Amino acid sequence: MADKILVTYASLTGSTAEVAEAIGKTLVESGLEVDVCPMTEVTDLAPYRAVVAGSAIHGGKWLPEAMQFMHTYQAELSGKPFAAFLVCITLGMPDSGKYRDGVSKWLEPVRALVKPVSEGLFAGNMQLSRLPFTFDAMMVRVAVALKALPNGDHRDWVAVRAWAASLPAVLT
Ligand SMILES: Cc1cc2nc3c(=O)[nH]c(=O)nc-3n(C[C@H](O)[C@H](O)[C@H](O)COP(=O)(O)O)c2cc1C
Repeated sequence: MADKILVTYASLTGSTAEVAEAIGKTLVESGLEVDVCPMTEVTDLAPYRAVVAGSAIHGGKWLPEAMQFMHTYQAELSGKPFAAFLVCITLGMPDSGKYRDGVSKWLEPVRALVKPVSEGLFAGNMQLSRLPFTFDAMMVRVAVALKALPNGDHRDWVAVRAWAASLPAVLT
């Protein structure tokens, strides 16, 4: 029987994975049975009655493997309660409230595939030493050097746990 909750994520440098783990922990504390794993390791949604999926943002988008997950499982996700979250550094900017509407639009491609019952928008963690030497990561380094993007860990664990604590009501 499908009675577990899946919390699945796409993460390049680990901060979204840690957000997913925190969401999973809160759901377990609410009495639910939960699996937390990367989207690339998901092979079957049948054991799950609901899915929480989240990705780091690169270039204003969920990571490619996250969108791949949505396309692969669109039909099954449409038949289950589905919640989505994103982790981005824009929400770590001073005065980040004014960016929330713009950041929310980054979930539009996800909504177009499966409508979430709830959405979480979270500030992330920018650790330059963890970035690969790709062109995109170089551009991010430049943006941080110019202070157009913030550096460091801006994750708000109170906000993450509060969102996770609101999920059982809409997922079960
Ligand atoms: C190549 C690259 C592109 C990024 N693009 C954006 C972006 O467009 N908007 C944003 O707010 N954050 C952007 N970020 C910041 C990440 O979303 C943020 O650091 C997040 O916490 C990383 O999550 P992860 O550790 O799970 O990979 C980018 C980071 C990288 C490395």
